[in-house]
Amino acid sequence: MFEHGIIIVGGGHGGSQLAASLRSEGYDGPLTLVTAENDIPYQRPPLSKAFLKDPAHDLLPLRPESFYDKNAIRLLLAAEVVSIDLAGGALRLADGAVLSFDGLALATGARARLPKVEGAHLAGVHVLRVVAEARALRDRLQTAEDVVVVGGGFIGLEVAATARLLGKRVTVLEAADRLMGRVVALQISAHFLDLHRSWGSDVKLATPLGRIVGEHGRVVAVETVGGERIPADLALVGIGVEPNVEIAAAAGLTVDNGVAVDETMATAARNVVAVGDCVSFPHHQLGRRIRLESVQNAVDQAKGAAKTLLGRPEPFREVPWFWSDQGDVKLQMVGLPFGATQSVVRGRIEDNKFSVFHFAGDRLLAIDSVNRAADHMVGRRLLAAGISPSPDICADESVDLKGLATRITSET
Ligand code: APR
Repeated sequence: MFEHGIIIVGGGHGGSQLAASLRSEGYDGPLTLVTAENDIPYQRPPLSKAFLKDPAHDLLPLRPESFYDKNAIRLLLAAEVVSIDLAGGALRLADGAVLSFDGLALATGARARLPKVEGAHLAGVHVLRVVAEARALRDRLQTAEDVVVVGGGFIGLEVAATARLLGKRVTVLEAADRLMGRVVALQISAHFLDLHRSWGSDVKLATPLGRIVGEHGRVVAVETVGGERIPADLALVGIGVEPNVEIAAAAGLTVDNGVAVDETMATAARNVVAVGDCVSFPHHQLGRRIRLESVQNAVDQAKGAAKTLLGRPEPFREVPWFWSDQGDVKLQMVGLPFGATQSVVRGRIEDNKFSVFHFAGDRLLAIDSVNRAADHMVGRRLLAAGISPSPDICADESVDLKGLATRITSET
């Protein structure tokens, strides 16, 4: 069946995992991983954290180079796929090369959104998604003094915290009336607003970006929609991502906020799967398609997609989890809080150590934890097992949730 073998497009967490999983699942045919980046697949999360802070911090490969040799995985770096012929089982690279395949996996990820405003392309305006962007930002951070961060999401706030540690003047502009509004509870947004202000950032909520002002091609200020001008010799824009779906759409695959796959990561085309940030999939509990942006999601979907390609499909039902390190504070999230009707707090917000448990009626949906890794870990177990302790129990610190989860899961 696999004369030409399998090609994976995209060398992020999803693509690299898919290559590894195909081999560990027993696939021994030809296997090629194509990535537009110059580096072998590497860990992305440190790019907005340790990598940025310390110029001596090296890129952390996900797997050593020898892994690809040992497992007969042909790694094509700096190779951009420009088109896919699904019927003919072939794809074309930017340099004109044509590669044939029997099975195809799209793990093309997402790219940072650029604002559609004047000045977005000035020197000193940065985004952060891949290592090339992280290197450019890190270099610029060495000499910058006035940093304006546009977007109070994960990327913006992680960079803001790092820039403060490096002694920069930092202003954060957030369009919404709270930080990280896309995913976290109100209490978490409020807490991180206090934290960032206490670390010395000037955080402005309900303040969308107006334009970026330059002189001689270089940023000198960022202007809000309201006309306030903030001096800047570095602007970091973290206003979300766009999935890389263009080649999939041009090939005729359905795109619906991401390459549309079923619960097994299969697209409508035979022997074509897709995983990670570029994908929208039907969520078994929400009853609608969603697209998730996280390492865990990409890795778990890749494990499933490998089985699908090898003819052993299983429905994808993993509980999503995410994290963000800002300064020395660890924020961890598990589950999806959509449709929550109530939330309770465990621990004390003023201790900078608490979790917010979200419920729809009595059903536990999600947990956001600040410096409470144990709650997060127990939450993963509870949500995976479909166990919902009552809101009162979750809020009661005298109840050992871990013990409770262990007892219930061993009984069921
Ligand atoms: N002006 C100011 N703020 C804006 C504007 C604007 N014009 N447009 C959007 N924003 C704000 C949003 O309100 C939101 O709070 O930018 C923030 C973007 O936050 P995220 O959606 O979390 O995106 P980002 O921080 O860029 O992270 C991108 O990287 O770390 C991963 O998982 C993370 O997938 C996410 C990705």
